[in-house]
Amino acid sequence: MIVTTDDLFKVAYGKFAVGAYNINNMEQAIGLFEGNVNAQAPFIVQISKGARKYANPQMLEAIIRAAGDLYPEAIFAVHLDHGDEETCYDCIDSGFYSSVMIDASHEPFDENIAITRRVVERAHAKGISVEAELGKLGGVEEDIQVDEKHASLTDPDEAKEFVERTGCDSLAVAIGTSHGAYKFSGGQGLHFDRMTAIQEQLPGFPLVMHGSSSVPREEVQRINAAGGAIDPSAKGVDANQFAGAVPLGVTKVNIDTDGRLVWTRVHREFFRDHPEQFDFRKPGTLFVPAYADFIVDKSRKLLSYGTLEQVRAALA
Ligand code: G3H
Ligand code: 13P
Ligand code: ZN
Repeated sequence: MIVTTDDLFKVAYGKFAVGAYNINNMEQAIGLFEGNVNAQAPFIVQISKGARKYANPQMLEAIIRAAGDLYPEAIFAVHLDHGDEETCYDCIDSGFYSSVMIDASHEPFDENIAITRRVVERAHAKGISVEAELGKLGGVEEDIQVDEKHASLTDPDEAKEFVERTGCDSLAVAIGTSHGAYKFSGGQGLHFDRMTAIQEQLPGFPLVMHGSSSVPREEVQRINAAGGAIDPSAKGVDANQFAGAVPLGVTKVNIDTDGRLVWTRVHREFFRDHPEQFDFRKPGTLFVPAYADFIVDKSRKLLSYGTLEQVRAALA
């Protein structure tokens, strides 16, 4: 059942975080739904601009609708990840999305506000909620001076002003994480002090944590043992820290890279061990349950495991 992102956030705030997972194909979609039904967890299906370009928006919509039919127990929202203004309007007008993210965080503060405000007006007119971003992820690297490190984190006073002036419904904040391959150059640590300060300015307001993959060492080692060449010092967020972020307002946690690592590990190992094979359905069949197990594990860390009936009751 597709629900609004707002409804999920209302139930989740302060109690658990909703896992938001990017999908690009049918196998990821089935594993995602299977895993969350097994975990009895609500979730968010995220579609990036890159996914729309790769798989076609109509195809992704059809896959998600079909997965919803195949797993009628599932409770989920559909979200545009890292949209620009034009893509946000496209998704708002499509009528399929529960929420969109406008990412104008690379723009100066006032321009970010102006763009976000325009998207909020269009989205709210159709009952769609908006995630915006303030602060800079990815600028946080171990070899950068501490002052510079903090300079890229979200400023709590600015966050309050930003939310008031834009009317956005949730805010992606820079609190020590970074996206995808960037992680491969160093370690991450969550800035709980910064989360606390942001929550003080925005009590009860849902915060979103991007760049939340863990990049497990053993996953990287297995990929490399099967022919990969990923930096072995790769390191992401310690998923055990999610539980500490939840009471501080982190209500949505974005995970993409870790799912790609599962895909890569399963497929590399399969073709290493069966070099004579070329039927991609065989590794695909192994990937789906592996991805589902991965989702169950994440939902435990997010504290969303076993919350589905509570969510269903709250939505009734
Ligand atoms: O934060 C970005 C997501 O991991 C989506 O990645 O733009 O390569 O689809 P993508
Ligand atoms: P990761 O690259 O850490 O998985 O982050 C994904 C993300 O933030 C999607 O918006
Ligand atoms: Zn992101």
